[in-house]
Amino acid sequence: MQLEPSFLEILLARLAFRFFGKTVYQAYAHRLPLREDARVLDFGSGLGAVAYYTAPHLPLGQLICTDISARWLAACRRTLRGSPGVTLYRGNIYALPLPPGSFDLVYCHFVLHDIPREELERVIPALAGLLKAGGRLAFREPLMGEPLRLIQTLLEENGLTQQESRVTDVPLMGNTLESIYRKERI
Ligand SMILES: C[S@@+](CC[C@H](N)C(=O)[O-])C[C@H]1O[C@@H](n2cnc3c(N)ncnc32)[C@H](O)[C@@H]1O
Repeated sequence: MQLEPSFLEILLARLAFRFFGKTVYQAYAHRLPLREDARVLDFGSGLGAVAYYTAPHLPLGQLICTDISARWLAACRRTLRGSPGVTLYRGNIYALPLPPGSFDLVYCHFVLHDIPREELERVIPALAGLLKAGGRLAFREPLMGEPLRLIQTLLEENGLTQQESRVTDVPLMGNTLESIYRKERI
């Protein structure tokens, strides 16, 4: 059963977005490899705090936000009400009607570290499968050894090669690892 966020959790996320929107979410969105005509997936979009800043960079492209939670997705819809052309999907990424090999970029912001191992073993192949050849997968996750090692191993096992990696200190969140992987071929 999917645990839905409380009203308080959503409120706190909105406050964080309001006070740290530029330093946390916009700064990350600006480091993503975005092209104006790119097709981009925000996996685990939550409130839509990163999507709010990526959407304006895709005037000829497409942004798709997915989340497992109906309440987070409703909150995301509200955050993005001024951003036309964004599509929202709720559900397991491996069960959504998204064509394989159709995305230029998939990004995951504070999502993967919280997904249990057996679920991650289904999620990462699904995300890798959605990328075009040459497409990128970017993540920013807390700097915690074990979850990160599993994420990195699964990405490599699914044909993705690390291109960039950096540690950043994020307000409220502490040290994080930001990485970008590239899919070499379909
Ligand atoms: C900590 S929040 C981060 C939200 C957003 N990316 C951000 O940085 O503001 C984690 C989000 O991932 C979603 N999530 C967790 N497991 C998921 C899964 N298996 N598939 C899709 N979304 C998931 C949660 O519902 C939640 O919205």
